[in-house]
Amino acid sequence: MNKSESAVFAERELPLVSALKTGRNRHSFHMPGNRAGQAFSAEFRSLLACLDTTELAATGDINEPAGIVLRALELAARTFSSAQTYFITCGSTTSLRIALAAAFKAGDRVLMGKGSHLSVANSCALLGLEAVLIKQDTLPRFADGQMKEAEVLRSLKEEKNLAGVLLMTPGYYGENLPLEKICQAAHARGIPVIVDSAHGAHFAIKVSGKSPGEKNWPRTALSQGADLVAQSAHKTLPALTPASMLHLSQAAIDSGRVSPARLAKMLPVFQTSSPSFPIAASLDYARDFIDHDAAAYVSRLLDLLEEFVAQLPSELSREYISGDDPCRLVLDYSASNCSRQKVFEILDAHRVDVELIDARCMVCIPPLDTPRESFIALGQACAEIARSGQSEHSQVKIDLAQRQAFLRQSRTSLTLRDSFSAESEALDFQNALGRQSAGVIAPYPPGMPLLWPGEEIKAADIALWQDLLDLAYDIRGIKSGKIGVLTDK
Ligand SMILES: Cc1ncc(COP(=O)(O)O)c(C=O)c1O
Repeated sequence: MNKSESAVFAERELPLVSALKTGRNRHSFHMPGNRAGQAFSAEFRSLLACLDTTELAATGDINEPAGIVLRALELAARTFSSAQTYFITCGSTTSLRIALAAAFKAGDRVLMGKGSHLSVANSCALLGLEAVLIKQDTLPRFADGQMKEAEVLRSLKEEKNLAGVLLMTPGYYGENLPLEKICQAAHARGIPVIVDSAHGAHFAIKVSGKSPGEKNWPRTALSQGADLVAQSAHKTLPALTPASMLHLSQAAIDSGRVSPARLAKMLPVFQTSSPSFPIAASLDYARDFIDHDAAAYVSRLLDLLEEFVAQLPSELSREYISGDDPCRLVLDYSASNCSRQKVFEILDAHRVDVELIDARCMVCIPPLDTPRESFIALGQACAEIARSGQSEHSQVKIDLAQRQAFLRQSRTSLTLRDSFSAESEALDFQNALGRQSAGVIAPYPPGMPLLWPGEEIKAADIALWQDLLDLAYDIRGIKSGKIGVLTDK
């Protein structure tokens, strides 16, 4: 923009443009993986706005793949080792909805974790699916409620008349759920496994295997037997928000577990009739990046991470075990005794933005091309966090209570769809004991429901929400202290 254009912008009121412009000089440890566009080549960056067009003879239609669109999808299918890949330009929220609609019909019972993303709960309600929540008795490691393999296998054995399974892996904190045995058990029952791998698009990178992180590089969901997999490329690869891919496996087609024709039919039902070409082109770009450049970026990032972790003050530690996503940086700051709000303030003062800060950990999603300066800035912020701990009440208890919430489940006689559409009233959440929630209650991020629609509100829920609000959490489903509850109880 030339000077006079900037001056015009300054005089007029463009709140979004102004706010987003000022965010550009900060250190990004959050999605999107395109790092404010800087991860794109200069040529692609300059092209982006010009790529915005409609369905023309020369371009084709992303919802009706043929010609050049089909070629781009075939290349993606090769890179991601699927039988068919679709570009979804409305995020994995839409990919998962399409997957559920393709694999199931209204009334079907689908096994899933309580810690499924709220978009999954919304989709189940919309599609009239019955979400059968997996019984969890082991405390989840993190506040996204990720389940254990044994819990999934046990529920698969115990639950009757299942039409399929939907699982999330990796979780928000980079924890992976091994899928191979689960897929074998589900397939033995003839039912499909859909995987929400929104955070795992980069697992398709063919890493060199030199460093420990590369040696333990996680396997993709497809390679472990999943039938349908949704991935948000924008979260971990250089792609525009909200670029997503939906992959279908050859085994799903051959076994008849998922019909490719039904999947194709669902695309235009849930995806806008004007899919975004710039977003789709960024998926083409991300696929090419994986084919040619990504492995070197991963090596470099893992080296930087190792160097960074070696210099961490003792009050902060990395939460990582073998099998986790080695690119995700989860830092436990509880030993610093620093409050969540203070951590925010310190990071902000160092111009560092992370993906999520919970009561115990901060989750950093370093884009694959994160510069060394950004790690230096994050390191300086961590040193200050280590020095300035002064929290009066123990946040660790809140973290524990948040994880324990995934072990509480109350069944409801209503389906999700009924709970969503039943008569409801707004109530102070403090007065909602014993009532049934009309919607999803989910701290955001990560957006994993602590309570599903129709579940009964317990005293422990109310206490936890108050604690989270005191820590300045945004809780979806609670607005100005009010919660929607069903009136017909
Ligand atoms: C686990 C998980 N699944 C699904 C989604 C939805 O993905 P998208 O933002 O691409 O619609 C998210 C978003 O954060 C997520 O964290």
